[in-house]
Amino acid sequence: MEKEKEIPKRSSSPYLSLTYYCSIFLVFSICIYATITNYIYPLPTTPTINQFVSVNSLNLNDSQISSIKNLGLTPKKPVQIINNDGKKMTIHGRFLHITDLHIDPYYKDGSDFDEMCHRGKSGEAGKYGDAIMGCDSPPLLVDETFKWIRENLIDKIDFIIYTGDSPRHDNDREYPRTQLKITEMNKDISRRFEELAQYNKDGELNPWTCHVSGNNCVWPHQTIAMASDTIRELFSAWKEFIPSYQMHTYLQGAYFFQEIIPNQLAVLSLNSLFWFSNNPLVDDCDTPSDAGYKHFEWLGYVLKEMRARNMKVWLSSHVPPNEKNFDNTCLRKYIVWTHEYRDVIIGGLYGHMNLDHFIPLDSVQAYKSIKKDFKNQFTDSAFSAFEIEEEELGESGLYKALDENFSDGFFKALGGVPSNKVKYMDTLRENLYAPLKGQKKSGEYYERYSVAHVGASVIPTFNPGLRVWEYNITNLEQELQQVKFEPWDKFFAGVEKMVEVQSKYESDDEASISKKKHKKNKKKKNKKKKRDHTFPKPMPKDRPLGPAYIEQTYTPERYVQYYADLDSINKGKKDFGYEIEYSTDDSLYGMASLTVKNWIEYGRKLGKPIKEANADGKKKNKKGKKKKTHGKLDKIWTNYLKNTFVSSDYEHKGYG
Ligand SMILES: *[C@@H]1O[C@H](CO)[C@@H](O)[C@H](O)[C@H]1NC(C)=O
Ligand SMILES: *[C@@H]1O[C@H](CO)[C@@H](O)[C@H](O)[C@H]1NC(C)=O
Ligand SMILES: *[C@@H]1O[C@H](CO)[C@@H](O)[C@H](O)[C@H]1NC(C)=O
Repeated sequence: MEKEKEIPKRSSSPYLSLTYYCSIFLVFSICIYATITNYIYPLPTTPTINQFVSVNSLNLNDSQISSIKNLGLTPKKPVQIINNDGKKMTIHGRFLHITDLHIDPYYKDGSDFDEMCHRGKSGEAGKYGDAIMGCDSPPLLVDETFKWIRENLIDKIDFIIYTGDSPRHDNDREYPRTQLKITEMNKDISRRFEELAQYNKDGELNPWTCHVSGNNCVWPHQTIAMASDTIRELFSAWKEFIPSYQMHTYLQGAYFFQEIIPNQLAVLSLNSLFWFSNNPLVDDCDTPSDAGYKHFEWLGYVLKEMRARNMKVWLSSHVPPNEKNFDNTCLRKYIVWTHEYRDVIIGGLYGHMNLDHFIPLDSVQAYKSIKKDFKNQFTDSAFSAFEIEEEELGESGLYKALDENFSDGFFKALGGVPSNKVKYMDTLRENLYAPLKGQKKSGEYYERYSVAHVGASVIPTFNPGLRVWEYNITNLEQELQQVKFEPWDKFFAGVEKMVEVQSKYESDDEASISKKKHKKNKKKKNKKKKRDHTFPKPMPKDRPLGPAYIEQTYTPERYVQYYADLDSINKGKKDFGYEIEYSTDDSLYGMASLTVKNWIEYGRKLGKPIKEANADGKKKNKKGKKKKTHGKLDKIWTNYLKNTFVSSDYEHKGYG
């Protein structure tokens, strides 16, 4: 054996043997040093670095395993962490996404749908609310939803992402929404989340709730400005969830982030109302005085820090990024940030649309649009060769289809009986999913794209829905044992300074603001601008792709979607509860994991029949050539559509 031959050879040379023993000693002393430093932390000599006191995998007992399995979830050993302040937290590798509660204190069981379920005696309005009928959530639905989460999920999840919209819609003249009432409803919902957190035993740290303000959380409806009273009101409702050292920033822009696992995982709560084209106070994201621009400054600042700390982040917000919701200058900026931080960002979670679906975001389209306005600021990216053949964002087929066939009101999601939603999904199929490019044009890991996920709402626009995401914690125990983390004070001092500098823009830019007011409501031509530091630098070449692209710790593995079957529940055929609707590893989804690659490949399956039909249409119909059928692919689409409408059968009811 060669190995045995080598060792005597080595010890025969005194020099080699010295090296040999020296290196053993060196390793040994490093070990001792590591042990000592471990032991010493956190002594005042090194006050800025922390480490977990202990990290251990826990075993699940049989009853825990069966309750996890009953929910369609995957049993895996949780990892328990103890901090040096004695606080415990348990990481299960799961979190909950919940959105759009829209609680309506005026809801009356047995009233009329035509009267917003506030009045009348027709008896139509169900106790728990009714899918598709256009009313807001009865308080009972909200009560029961929180109860179900408490009884079923709270001991299985690490954190909750709530993407907002707590108050009822402004749909009844007899009950106008005042600032006071809106704040009351916001407070009602935030108190419920606080109570949820208390059901956690042993003073554990989690679950955190990351609230996000929604367009109906504010008054007047969808209007929000920097440092306004509106934000103060939001703050008064949600202050328990906003880390104290971020209060100042929150009061400026209603955005903040929460560190979930120290130095490892964070959730960013973005304020998409600053990017929302329906917010009358928003102009664009390329003018330094605009709130949207300032929000990107903050985002850039935070993401850079996350990268420096080697952390991973989920983005979350209320209004999802698409070509009608966001102003184009904001959307393209948002997309290139997610693209250039593909080592850091895991994905984005949104609400507002009430439609369970996903939105692929194309960095090539975004860059094409940006380069038209900012010619010399960008060196070519890996995919710039494809820009020639690609439509630019804001002028794309999707934009045209949305613009032509859907009114602006459609994207405001005002509540009421939903209409035209099948047509909307068909438009996405044709203009968003069908054109998705394959690996050759998207990169080995489809890193050209990023993905935004829109969750089903609790408000019964369709049926109420909830989603539990499961993420990879296979190696978490070993990884956390090595983690050292710094506190954030220095960083936040920097943020405060930045916010101060930002507020100076206000006075400098009055002129350009008043000039812009004139061209409101005209279709905006993106003006050429000078240097703009709210564009990201390209991702450094030596950074490996993050959990969104390559399977690793924090990669989402699957999710389980739950829904409440309101019809059966109201009829007394079922007790109130959420049941499994589908999961992403079901046969008609077939996703082994939830990387961007999995999503784009799935999206291509959704679009393929349309793509081929269009291609066939262009060719001359050859004799004898049969029209292609897509048994399985059509089933995949039909199933997707059913789930988009949360199993309410909306797609067969003739609402368009
Ligand atoms: C399983 O563990 C849970 C949580 O520690 C505990 O409450 C429960 O009693 C245990 N069940 C059994 C059958 O041991
Ligand atoms: C709008 O909808 C109609 C009917 O579905 C369709 O023929 C048309 O192509 C759509 N417009 C665009 C720009 O896609
Ligand atoms: C989970 O992450 C580990 C690395 O932490 C990786 O080796 C493994 O392949 C991942 N598993 C899955 C199913 O993605």
